[in-house]
Order: sequence, then structure tokens, then C-alpha cells
Amino acid sequence: MFKDKLKVKTGEVEDIVLSYLPDNIGHQQPVVDAMIYSVEAGGKRIRPLLMYETYKLFGGNSDVIKPFMAAMEFIHTYSLIHDDLPAMDNDEFRRGKPTTHIKYGEALAILAGDGLLNFGFETAAKAFSIEPGSKKVEEAFSFLSNASGIYGMVGGQTVDVLTDAEGEITREKLDFVYDLKTGALLLASMHIGALLAGADKKDIEKIDIIAKKIGLAFQIQDDILDVTSTTEELGKPVGSDNKNNKATYVTFEGLKKASEYVRRLTFEATELLNSLDCKNDFLCELLLYLVDRKN
Ligand code: IPE
Ligand code: IPE
Ligand code: MG
Ligand code: MG
Ligand code: MG
Repeated sequence: MFKDKLKVKTGEVEDIVLSYLPDNIGHQQPVVDAMIYSVEAGGKRIRPLLMYETYKLFGGNSDVIKPFMAAMEFIHTYSLIHDDLPAMDNDEFRRGKPTTHIKYGEALAILAGDGLLNFGFETAAKAFSIEPGSKKVEEAFSFLSNASGIYGMVGGQTVDVLTDAEGEITREKLDFVYDLKTGALLLASMHIGALLAGADKKDIEKIDIIAKKIGLAFQIQDDILDVTSTTEELGKPVGSDNKNNKATYVTFEGLKKASEYVRRLTFEATELLNSLDCKNDFLCELLLYLVDRKN
């Protein structure tokens, strides 16, 4: 059954990610504690999982992918710690636990985010010694940096916090926010998997199109769950977008249209995935599962 496979594979991915956590030594222990707390709290591990499955799809079989998987999850977790801060979404619950600033205070939460961002790159840099002189590792490192920063996640979050439901919101601006705040790291996950496995340029371009659709569908589904789910099921507060007067696809298009769009995007992504010569049935099932996910 898909759910059982997902559990096993998520467990494998989680073991890889956790194996790269920093040692907890010295006077900086409090910030390292907060970093470890935030990563160990859980989460779906969807980004490193997508990276790993895309890597395997193109026949990748070296350890070089592992530091990138961990780096991606560290950078994603940092983005969540900061996203939950009072100055941003002001949420008190994440991954079924109190958010980092509730548990450790705001100053340590900010530092734990900073720490995870930098430690993410320190971790990714370990790939350089696994494949010395590799052009692909260099490219992957640079892709990850770009996707995390102003051209990616940080850029999207910037427009997200400055735009509210009553303000001037256009579809173009909404697309920009979704492409960047969520799309960029999801795209980087699949792109880096394909790149490091040695996929050719045409296939990487296809993977990018698939990942773009999945990233958009993923965030719209997140917005839908913010309205339709429960805090217990989500592991984070429902109604956060409404509380923050957020402009989302749901406020812009309504729940029905938003759900239809998630389905259409996912269908298009799986069609494209199936058009590749190589096959990875689990990856296809995973994309379909994301549409119906409850958390
Ligand atoms: C939450 O990401 C933030 C979004 C981009 C929607 P996830 O839904 O992947 O959160 P975790 O990692 O499973 O906690
Ligand atoms: C944030 O989107 C995406 C990030 C880059 C962290 P949301 O604010 O909707 O994410 P959740 O719902 O808090 O996980
Ligand atoms: Mg947010
Ligand atoms: Mg949020
Ligand atoms: Mg949300």
C-alpha cells in the first residue's frame, strides 16, 4: 500500500536528515537545542523525499545527494521558524508542538532560524568532498542558494507579508508569491535531485515544469487546509491566513475553484512525469497523494 511505502521512505529520509544535525557542545548550546527541537519536531519531509526520489528516478546512487537533502530540510525548517514569529504569521503551534519562539523565546527562535540557514549551507558543502571537483555539485549548491534567498523563498515571503486580502492583489502578484515562497524550494528539491543524478538538460527542464506545478498545488492545498482542516490534524493552527488577513488563492478564487486547480495542476504534473522515459511509480503516487493530503 502506498501509505506504508510512504512511511518507510519518509523514515529513511528522516534518518538521513537527522544524521546531519549539529553536535550540541559549548556555550552556544541553547541555540543548537532550539535548532534540533525544530528539526526533530517532525513534518512531512516532503522536500528531501522529492529530492531523493527524483535523484533515484534518473539513476542516482551516490551519497552526494544526502547532504543536500539535509540542507534542504534545515533551510525549510528555518523558513518555518521565522514564518511563525509574532512579526510574521504569529503562530504558536507547528508540527504538533509549540513553535520555536513559544518554547525558547523570540531571540533564540530568530537565532535558531539563522543558525539553521547557515548550517544548511555548511551541510550542503559536505557534498564537495564526496565528489571533489564536480561541476554538478557546484551547480546544485548555487541553485540551492538562489532558491532560498531574494530570488526565491525570501522574495516570496516578502511580498506575502506586505500583501493583505483587502489590498491591491492581482493574479500576477499572487502567482509571484506562490512561485517563490513555496515553489522555489520545492522546485530546487527536484531540480537538484535530477541534476546530481546526471539527467540531461531536456529532462531537467521537464522536472522543473513538474515541480513548478507541484509547488503551486502544494501551497494552494495548504491554504485550503487552513480553512477546512483541524489544528489536531494539521499540527499547526487552522485559520492562520484569515487571522492575518492573507490574500490566498482561496480568498481570491474561492474554495471550489482552488480545489479544482490543485487537481488540475497535479494531473498535469503526473502526465508529464509519466512522459519521461524513466519511471518511478512511487514518485507519481506521491504527487497524487499530495492533493488529498490532510496535513
Ligand atoms: C509548510 O510546509 C509551509 C508551506 C510551504 C506550505 P510543509 O507543509 O512541508 O510543512 P512540514 O515540513 O510538513 O511541517
Ligand atoms: C509559508 O506559507 C511558506 C514559507 C515559506 C514558510 P504559510 O505561512 O502558509 O505556511 P504555514 O501555513 O504557516 O505552514
Ligand atoms: Mg506565512
Ligand atoms: Mg504561516
Ligand atoms: Mg499556510
